[in-house]
Amino acid sequence: MTTLAENELMTLVEGEAPMGRLMRANYWLPFGLSDQLVHGQAPMPVRLLGQNYVAFRAEDGRVGFLDELCPHRRASLLLARAEGNGLRCIYHGWKMDVSGCVVECPNQAVRAEQFAASVPVVHFPVHECGGLAWVWLGGTDAPAFPELPFADEDLYRYWCVSRVPCNWLQGIEGTIDSAHVGLLHQTWIAEAAKMAEHSNLTMALDQPPRYETQSTPYGLRAAALRKTAEGQTYVRITEHLMPLVTITPVGRSMPRAGSVFVLSPMDDTHHLLFFGYFGDTAHSAKPPTEICMQDAEYQPDPRDYTGVRGDRWTAWGQDRALMAAGHFTGFGRSLLEEDAVIQSSMGPIIDRSKEHLSSSDVAVATARQMLLDALSAAGSGELPPGSALAAEGARLPNALEVVVPEGERWEDAALDQVTA
Ligand code: FES
Ligand SMILES: [Fe+2]
Repeated sequence: MTTLAENELMTLVEGEAPMGRLMRANYWLPFGLSDQLVHGQAPMPVRLLGQNYVAFRAEDGRVGFLDELCPHRRASLLLARAEGNGLRCIYHGWKMDVSGCVVECPNQAVRAEQFAASVPVVHFPVHECGGLAWVWLGGTDAPAFPELPFADEDLYRYWCVSRVPCNWLQGIEGTIDSAHVGLLHQTWIAEAAKMAEHSNLTMALDQPPRYETQSTPYGLRAAALRKTAEGQTYVRITEHLMPLVTITPVGRSMPRAGSVFVLSPMDDTHHLLFFGYFGDTAHSAKPPTEICMQDAEYQPDPRDYTGVRGDRWTAWGQDRALMAAGHFTGFGRSLLEEDAVIQSSMGPIIDRSKEHLSSSDVAVATARQMLLDALSAAGSGELPPGSALAAEGARLPNALEVVVPEGERWEDAALDQVTA
């Protein structure tokens, strides 16, 4: 049964909800791909926690992140000109720089410099890491950024980003619910398995696993356990950095590779979905064609592979002819389309009081409990798991696949690999 507290998990915006406060005060939030921020191009529209912002790359390489509306008379700075290290509003020509200062206000006749210096500009610090741009909305000095396994300089990465029309927690729950992968995504998995580097995938997914979870200082480790023919245990470990990052393994032969989901709450009923691959080889920087090749007419935007379209009146664009031809779901644009559609189909905010969780939902249930615990801990002044304020020097371990001999614990095997 959903409690009042569980409903608090989803709501970020209304009335400065507790989850919104927790998110704002403890976590860096991703808002764009670093390479989408190019000096001289139009400012990037951003919506986070129910507020609108603009982001831009200054001439000196820094990223500015400002309230969308001009501090003069509130024209949108999405329309602004990119000039040097700032944005110039096209209404009366005020210029705001990357560090959040008004540096010119040509319509101020007297003491323009002092006047400009007295005008506050709502702005926030940005940190670029692992190919993404993250912002600190906490209103305090920005804390150190945690070390993420996909951020090492020498790795190759691919990223895409989509806007998904449902609550952020529906998306996050999808990333740690590995029970759906072999079912919902079975057509894509079969395609991917034909490629050598994914040869473990079908072996891993062709039988229903038993799930175990472990809480960690940064969030949650979820293990999917399957017996092999030789009596060993095949373990796929998903790492979840609470509350927005989930890393899943892509193969035992690639210990420094993985696939990553990073979500960011735009408002209560929309989130950004960043999906990426990382690894040691240049292949990891290529668009993942194996998850996007079924719809011959669809020309995917390599930066937005999800391709969500339509609504319940059009069954979100589901292609029944494709299903008749053998595709399990009829969503031939991409694997991510299946995720985004299925999560949006629940409605903008799911009514969890009407769910009936089964044994494979253990990771989802654990993650919800951790968020509830984090809310009550924050209420008594403690830092929640994964808080950037406590993350100095911390490194999130990569997701792993391991085979554990009979009689040994997967937790020990995972630890060996993490510390090796
Ligand atoms: S509204 Fe921007 S300069 Fe006047
Ligand atoms: Fe999925």
